[in-house]
Amino acid sequence: MRGLTLVLVVLASTTLASEPNGIFDDLVEHTPVEVLPQLVTSNSAFGLCPSEAYINYYNQVWETSLGFDSSLTWRNASSLWVRVRQMIKSGDLATFQKLCASRDKFYFNMGQILYYQCINIFSFLQYTQDIKTAATYVRMWQHLDFYCNVGFEQLLSPGTYACVVTASANEGCVNAYQASVNYTNPCPAVEQYMNCEKGLFDTACGAPNGYYACEDTRLGYGAYCSNLRCNV
Ligand SMILES: *[C@@H]1O[C@H](CO)[C@@H](O)[C@H](O)[C@H]1NC(C)=O
Ligand SMILES: *[C@@H]1O[C@H](CO)[C@@H](O)[C@H](O)[C@H]1NC(C)=O
Repeated sequence: MRGLTLVLVVLASTTLASEPNGIFDDLVEHTPVEVLPQLVTSNSAFGLCPSEAYINYYNQVWETSLGFDSSLTWRNASSLWVRVRQMIKSGDLATFQKLCASRDKFYFNMGQILYYQCINIFSFLQYTQDIKTAATYVRMWQHLDFYCNVGFEQLLSPGTYACVVTASANEGCVNAYQASVNYTNPCPAVEQYMNCEKGLFDTACGAPNGYYACEDTRLGYGAYCSNLRCNV
């Protein structure tokens, strides 16, 4: 029985890792790494992050509070992002609220200024050449920023959270992005992707859920693609 449970747990996490994110855009996954430093840039990073140890310390406090393997660092961003998505996709509001409380503490403990200086792709590129991992970690926090702030009340409105976490995958939007994107200027394809997500979630869960899916993507890439808009 224990063996079977283990197999099921492994299967579930493998499925989740390869499954499109649904409400979370996975453009980091589907964009060549050399384009990511522009696309995942942020316009709030003035000044330097004190050190990688500084990030590691707050990351460890955060993940320990969630009961994750405390040896995971930002360099394990792909594993951390799977675990965060599992918590969100659990469909359990208490779990989601716990995740958001942990995010609020991470932000508060680090302090607003250092949060933006450290959780920033250019900060991580001082410590690594693994652009994809850096972008995945930054994007994970951006998603949490959005869903634990602007998106929070919307997710708490009756029926929304249950619908959003079970809504269909977004392969269609990803395929359209990949088919049309020109990486010299990916912004038109990003905008098309945002509208595609909007349509998907308005259809699946009713307006204005599509707007929130669109906004989450816009906030991730809007510093580089400066004229993106989401309409309610
Ligand atoms: C975490 O990342 C480190 C460095 O990349 C790696 O050696 C380690 O195996 C990773 N741990 C897990 C659990 O993925
Ligand atoms: C991509 O965009 C650049 C700059 O706008 C343009 O010069 C190039 O022809 C485009 N490539 C394709 C395949 O459309």
